[in-house]
Amino acid sequence: MRSFVEACQQSPLQHRLHQLLAVVVRDAALHARFLNSLARLEYVGVRKMLKARRSQDLDLDGLQHLLEEAVHATRLKKFARSVAPEAVCVDTFRAAHTLAGDEAEGYFQVVDRAGAEALGREDAETSYVLTSAAIEIRARAFYPAYQEVLEAAGSKVSVQSILNDEVQHLAEMQQRLQTAEPQWRAQLEHVMRVEQGAFAALLGAFEAAVASHQAAQGDKLPPCQPRSSYEERS
Ligand SMILES: [Fe+2]
Ligand SMILES: [Fe+2]
Repeated sequence: MRSFVEACQQSPLQHRLHQLLAVVVRDAALHARFLNSLARLEYVGVRKMLKARRSQDLDLDGLQHLLEEAVHATRLKKFARSVAPEAVCVDTFRAAHTLAGDEAEGYFQVVDRAGAEALGREDAETSYVLTSAAIEIRARAFYPAYQEVLEAAGSKVSVQSILNDEVQHLAEMQQRLQTAEPQWRAQLEHVMRVEQGAFAALLGAFEAAVASHQAAQGDKLPPCQPRSSYEERS
């Protein structure tokens, strides 16, 4: 799995992600909605697991994983509420309360479809493991970058404990793939190719949402002051 994580970390998308995060973390309104989008992604992960996992296959690790993803969603939502300025509402996961929230959910759906496609047979359990591995690989590149930007900005938000859980989840997915699916590497390569395109599209959606927020802020700036009499003379 290390090579998959390194490929994400060394991709040009990682530089774009850093730039985006640096802008988002500096602006409380953007940051609150961004955190809420991440909470939505974690929630969608929980929902996918609940749908994909049959009770006869669900063990303690599976239950623990479900619980931890729900905790991630809750923690990120609480952070969103704590940084949100008064005028910014992050109560629900609807588009207006998130930053490119619909596109974030769309990213997950694309990766999920790629997992099913790569497997090439009806097997919700293994397809879930493939999709989950791909999402966890991206999380291993995403959360460290986010934590670095948060620390550099002196933010009260920390995603370190979430990252620690995601490290465990990826190890668990690796173990399950290695024992259940002999073709897992080639299948995961396919899923990661699709995931990379979906992540690039998601970054583009975040960038567009940031640009439109900044343009709206620009519209609210006071008009230029009249030139001083000194300037008029010179
Ligand atoms: Fe998570
Ligand atoms: Fe996870």
